Amino acid sequence: MEKTFLMIKPDGVQRGLIGRIVARLEDKGFKLVAAKLTLVTEEQAKRHYAEHEGKDFFPGLISFITSGPVFAMVWEADDVIALSRLLIGKTKVGEALPGTIRGDFASHTPLNLIHGSDSPESAEREIANFFAPGELNDYNKAI
Ligand code: CMP
Repeated sequence: MEKTFLMIKPDGVQRGLIGRIVARLEDKGFKLVAAKLTLVTEEQAKRHYAEHEGKDFFPGLISFITSGPVFAMVWEADDVIALSRLLIGKTKVGEALPGTIRGDFASHTPLNLIHGSDSPESAEREIANFFAPGELNDYNKAI
């Protein structure tokens, strides 16, 4: 089963959208295997967004993502990386379709509420940046 790293950014936490976003992911049938409300350190932020280092928006992105608590999550499902990115919608909120999380709730591009891994390699790296292996739950057998 595939895993992905999803993170409700400081704007989503401050706007009180954790519950509604998590509900959409649960409604889709994804399984939440780890979650924490946490402040992102500068080092963690730079590791997370390493591919954007050097871009003009990088300093603003780092100060935004470290500006307040985020809700970091690991979700599991078949094809969860591609499917979760469909549910999230396009990065630029002007291109995010209605029915997607960003299309329905975000109105300004850097404040696009939620991050989702874009590949299995990114998911593995991003999960390890926020969670220790022992924090990932396996509750298949509990229900
Ligand atoms: P995310 O999916 O977390 O991945 C990288 C983030 O960089 C993206 O969401 C946006 O929040 C941010 N980002 C991407 N492009 C721009 C841009 N042109 N200006 C400001 N922020 C951007």
